[in-house]
Amino acid sequence: MARNHLVGLLLGTEEDWPSAFETVMKRLDPKISYGGETHTVQTERITIEPFDLRAVPRYGLVIDRLAHWYYVPREWLKKVALMNDVYLMNNPFTFQSMEKHAAYAAMIRLGLKVPETWLLPSKKPPDNPRFPYTAARYNEPFDLDEIAQRVGYPLFMKPFDGGAWVGVTRIKDVDELHRRYDESGERLMHLQASVENFEVFARSLSIGAETMVMRYDPSQPIHGRYQVEHGFLAPAVGREVVTIGRLVNAFFLWEFNSCETLIKDGEVFPIDYANACPDVSLTSLHYYFPWAIKSLIKWALFCAVTDRQMQIEMTMKRYFDIGDRTDLSYEDKLAEYGRLADEHFQTERYQDFLETYVPEIDEVMLEYVAGAGFDRLLVETVRSTFPAHEHERFIAHYRGLLALWVKDQVGISA
Ligand SMILES: Nc1ncnc2c1ncn2[C@@H]1O[C@H](COP(=O)(O)OP(=O)(O)OP(=O)(O)O)[C@@H](O)[C@H]1O
Ligand SMILES: [Mg+2]
Repeated sequence: MARNHLVGLLLGTEEDWPSAFETVMKRLDPKISYGGETHTVQTERITIEPFDLRAVPRYGLVIDRLAHWYYVPREWLKKVALMNDVYLMNNPFTFQSMEKHAAYAAMIRLGLKVPETWLLPSKKPPDNPRFPYTAARYNEPFDLDEIAQRVGYPLFMKPFDGGAWVGVTRIKDVDELHRRYDESGERLMHLQASVENFEVFARSLSIGAETMVMRYDPSQPIHGRYQVEHGFLAPAVGREVVTIGRLVNAFFLWEFNSCETLIKDGEVFPIDYANACPDVSLTSLHYYFPWAIKSLIKWALFCAVTDRQMQIEMTMKRYFDIGDRTDLSYEDKLAEYGRLADEHFQTERYQDFLETYVPEIDEVMLEYVAGAGFDRLLVETVRSTFPAHEHERFIAHYRGLLALWVKDQVGISA
């Protein structure tokens, strides 16, 4: 029996990764004999339209890049998750309710080294006629300076829900503290202790069961932030960073997310890990772009063909039961979380599946990235991203990085 799976792409302005994803999927043209059926997979870009809540979608799996700011697709995703068992890589319910603040709270309970963090009442009160009465009765006056003292300078003031560095400032003294707080208006802000003089900023990108840890330099312009560097973390620290990323994703039911950690004196401090629409553009990821596309394809194939069920309900208690134990060290807890994450992501089954049913994926990806079609995509992406006088320089820059990736792959398989 033949079964076709339709992978839907819910897209905004991006053209680079979708085009790579579609091309590689087409070249792979999977015909996988699994569970007594022959599975084929196609991709399609989803259009935005009014929808009947009872309509049955044609998609088996959807990769969403749009719902974090556009509400029509957001509500469509919730409907297809609740009613039609469409597989979504990021749970739309937790994505919406577990913003940065909730993510900090949950990870603190699990024992992660989240820097000291306070939530402040907004500078400008909510515009609500009930506020003056409520505030007069219940709002305690508070001393902002004292809270900042407790957190310690320098500190970061940042929005409780976060995203794209908007409203994030590093504050050195009392004057700046008040100025920034005054500017924050109605937005709820955190004060967070700064991890100063860290040795490494590690940003990990997770796609399903796979996680890539990359060295990141936030002081660089976008094209230079991800460093091509291997072995920049001691092996045990590397494993810790990977486990933290996987824990966050398994806990929140996200499968396409990035996690930021700062490493200082061998300790790992997670600072940001609720980015369920992570940057995967060619111009940011460059060397790591093929890894991201390949991982997306592998995870999509695994989920579609094996009929992996998307999990809607959270299983927080399983994690808290470990986090709350006083007889376990931080390391013991991480090991337990790692086991839960492996179980959640079906890590072993995923790897077996790929080896057995998609052994050609590395070769197909390599051929694609080394070929003319990919080079055209690279050139077009640079042209649409940078001003004209920079095209030549950046085309050479990215070609060099991708050629390095190709060379490294040939080295691995030799
Ligand atoms: N506690 C901290 N210690 C040191 N640096 C920090 C801390 N918090 C934030 N930063 C710096 O500020 C940057 C932005 O902060 P954060 O990642 O929390 O905000 P964001 O708006 O979620 O960013 P994005 O969504 O783009 O990742 C970080 O990449 C880091 O360079
Ligand atoms: Mg961040």
